[in-house]
Amino acid sequence: MPVPLDTSHLWMPFTANRQYKAQPRLLVSASGMYYTSDDGRRILDGTAGLWCVNAGHGHPRIVEAVQKQATEMDYAPFFQMGHPKGFEAATALAEIAPAGLDRVFFCNDGSEGVDTALKIALAYHRMRGDAGRTRLIGRERGYHGVGFGGIAVGGIAGNRKQFGPTLAAADHLRHPLDIARNAFSRGLPEHGTELADELEQRLLNLHDPSSIAAVIVEPLQGSTGVILPPKGYLEKIRAICDKYNILLIFDEVITGFGRLGTAFAADYFKVIPDMIVCAKALTNAAVPMGAVLVRRDIHDTFMQAAPADTIEFAHGYTYSAHPLAAAAACATLQVYREEDLFARAADMSAYFENAAHSLRGLPGIKDIRNLGLVCGIELDSLSGKPGARAYDIFHRAFHEKGLLIRVTGDVIALSPPLIIEREQIDELFGGIADLIRQTA
Ligand SMILES: Cc1ncc(COP(=O)(O)O)c(C=O)c1O
Repeated sequence: MPVPLDTSHLWMPFTANRQYKAQPRLLVSASGMYYTSDDGRRILDGTAGLWCVNAGHGHPRIVEAVQKQATEMDYAPFFQMGHPKGFEAATALAEIAPAGLDRVFFCNDGSEGVDTALKIALAYHRMRGDAGRTRLIGRERGYHGVGFGGIAVGGIAGNRKQFGPTLAAADHLRHPLDIARNAFSRGLPEHGTELADELEQRLLNLHDPSSIAAVIVEPLQGSTGVILPPKGYLEKIRAICDKYNILLIFDEVITGFGRLGTAFAADYFKVIPDMIVCAKALTNAAVPMGAVLVRRDIHDTFMQAAPADTIEFAHGYTYSAHPLAAAAACATLQVYREEDLFARAADMSAYFENAAHSLRGLPGIKDIRNLGLVCGIELDSLSGKPGARAYDIFHRAFHEKGLLIRVTGDVIALSPPLIIEREQIDELFGGIADLIRQTA
């Protein structure tokens, strides 16, 4: 008899620990579109892990690159030192970045990326002699990771309840989810563009535009339930930021690397921010890594304003451009290019959209939202038990259907690897449809 796994010591992240440990769900291996569970079942990955394994699991080229690097050099510092793979990874990333955003700062994940970008924004204005710009604007229901900067600009009410008033230097736009007017939109919703106007009419009016350093938004809000920007919304935000010299940061931690069928959501929307935060699929999640893509002249301001031979930006991480992460990033970006995976995602998105909307009419569905290879299915909540129905579906999807899906509140959020095949899309939505019928 194998010794039972001791789950007591690990305080699990973003998990209902007591509920999970009463009936653990364990994954033990992964390849391509599938995980294998500890009881030997094949589990179709409907979420690319956590929106991060875009090229599919265990891609041999990425595995080989990481193994090779681990053998060659495990670690080298990047403070006043360097190693070639770090520079090569930055060059490869700059090559697929929107024009102009070709300076790269490395960190280890999305949360660090967000905090890095916010610090660059604040310091940049000071460097160019505009030190009054200290306020940051985010959005309600925005998720920007778990650092203090990220939860300040993030719009998750629960963070304010648990972590209190240190998050005060930020204000927030309303989120654009409007089910009453936009339910079951295919792709971008028609209504709600005017919500962008409140940046100027409410927030800039209230705080004075000259006090605002940056606006940060997810082009598509994922973690709080797949919220899409209405048509023309991001364009308006860009125009208002331009008018008042406010930096615009796109948090592309989940939309980067082909999720919408283009390298970045900025390319999809043809709205180019001043900085892009990315992470997750940058290395296909093989090794943690995040990055901030920065407009060249913002970077150059630091280089010109700081006294010669001093550190221009007092920021960095022990593992910035870690050799294993850098090797994984170089290999991953090559795989995306050579296998043309972003275009593949674009080609598959119409089939994915049709499959998603085929669920319309099933009992207890409030809304279905989709873009690229992202879909949110919002369910009617059980009376007095928000989130319980979606959790039940999540649990049964794993145990009864062999599907890994993600739920947030009563929204089922899907974001499969970009290599998904049509039959797998059918399996994913077919399984979910069965469970929605059973739990209605
Ligand atoms: C938009 C966005 N920003 C930031 C983060 C935080 O990334 P990480 O968990 O890698 O710190 C996430 C994670 O899901 C995210 O979706």
